[in-house]
Amino acid sequence: MAQLEDVFKKLVSHCKEYGFIYQSSEIYDGLSAVYDYGPYGVELKNNIKTYWWKSMVQLNENIVGIDSAIFMHPKIWKASGHVDAFNDPLVDNKDSKKRYRADTLIEDAISKIEAKAEKEVEKAKTRFGESFDEQLYRTTNPRVVEYLSKAKEINDRLNSAMTNNNMEELKQIILDLEIADPDSGSRNWTDVRQFNLMFNTQLGNIAGEEGKLYLRPETAQGIFVNFLNVQKTTRQKIPFGIAQIGKAFRNEIVARQFIFRMREFEQMEMQFFVKPGSELQWYEHWKNTRMKWHLALGTPAEKLRFHNHENLAHYANAAVDIQYDFPFGFKELEGIHSRTDFDLKSHQELSGKKLQYFDTEDNESYIPYVVETSIGCDRMFLTILSQAYHEEMVPDAEGGEAQRIVLKLHPALAPVKCAVLPLLKNKPELVEKAKSVMSMLTSSFICTYDDKDAIGRRYRRQDALGTPCCITIDFETLENNTVTIRDRDTLVQERISIEEIERIIENKVSWKNLLS
Ligand code: GAP
Repeated sequence: MAQLEDVFKKLVSHCKEYGFIYQSSEIYDGLSAVYDYGPYGVELKNNIKTYWWKSMVQLNENIVGIDSAIFMHPKIWKASGHVDAFNDPLVDNKDSKKRYRADTLIEDAISKIEAKAEKEVEKAKTRFGESFDEQLYRTTNPRVVEYLSKAKEINDRLNSAMTNNNMEELKQIILDLEIADPDSGSRNWTDVRQFNLMFNTQLGNIAGEEGKLYLRPETAQGIFVNFLNVQKTTRQKIPFGIAQIGKAFRNEIVARQFIFRMREFEQMEMQFFVKPGSELQWYEHWKNTRMKWHLALGTPAEKLRFHNHENLAHYANAAVDIQYDFPFGFKELEGIHSRTDFDLKSHQELSGKKLQYFDTEDNESYIPYVVETSIGCDRMFLTILSQAYHEEMVPDAEGGEAQRIVLKLHPALAPVKCAVLPLLKNKPELVEKAKSVMSMLTSSFICTYDDKDAIGRRYRRQDALGTPCCITIDFETLENNTVTIRDRDTLVQERISIEEIERIIENKVSWKNLLS
């Protein structure tokens, strides 16, 4: 575990050092849980969005995109249930004045109990060696059984309190488990109360409640309220989908783990409108399609898993998360929800406008059911970086070994596709040739030109950015118009003619490699 935390720390500092992600407002000591994307970060993030958009919108004739405004009529959030129920249970420590999510404090306590059970299992594994029957041990060893059943019992209490909005019970669990403030060790807690996660602001020309606007906490509602506009203008027939990428805002109480939980983040969401009764079939379809989308990037299957929701939200009749094994454990990366007709129906009721679809095949009107896929772009960014970050030993120029940090990004996602490197910067003929190669490539790919430091160090810099190809211009280039092209992953250098460079890079970085 300590090792994984170490990897995570290195990943965070790598993001800063190499211009992927900076803390927002850093010169003013930062703004908690808000981050800025640097020059390489924005390219990688744009590529993630392109991959999603191409596979969801471009490759599906029956899915179209929109870009709705962040500000929407405040009644939208009343209809969606966010004004009344988009809450987290909050508890303050009276001594440290620190604020926590009550459910997170309890979940952390459960994890500690589970970790004790795991420690017992690990110890037994070492003790018994080959003959160890882990399953049997887990179900018969008294200490392990006691830890696991205690963890289950608390988990059940937590789930029931959350489902029933029972704040007193949450406080009671904190007291029963003698949970202390992780910061100060104090057990002096306030009562648990609900805290609405929406940020709000005020319209310039209307005072008071009337002019209260919310920053959207999800992009989905912009899709629901445009459902009929889009259906009519694109003449889509059910089943069809509407996709959107955009910012969302949540006043998270506990924001931690870097860009995993932010207060301002970006979502990539798709609402798929289907005939009532067919939603569970489509739910299975999107579950599998979305998992394949993740696997196509080369993420090993064992690092991804489905996690069914035990307690369904009142509007859902099925819900699952795709979890990724982050350096801090398996956590939600994407949600797939069968949302019934809850949202459209609520908007129809509150707005008084019909949001029905006329099915020409069945000659009937109905409010469609919706299957949603929703993924955080920033969380996907963290997944991709966690998967790509490697520290490894490679041969150095002196015949020994040197350590390198390399981002083994899928070439289609890499922020820079190719680096052009003149062997020496003080040889004008090499520089001139390198500049002409650079200008030949820049209209096709994002390239970088680098003539500073020894060639080995320049390769390392590109490895750390995940650049798939390095083109070196040397004295042989001047003689026969050939260059070397170095592969980031295999380190193999091949000599190729200048005319071939563009085709070779295109083959390597093409979206087709991902989308086919
Ligand atoms: N429209 C459905 C919806 O918003 P959600 O599970 O609350 O569902 C969907 O959010 C996805 O958005 C999550 O799976 C996660 O990837 C991302 N997400 C949610 N809250 C986030 C936060 N505070 N920071 C970063 N990403 C977040």
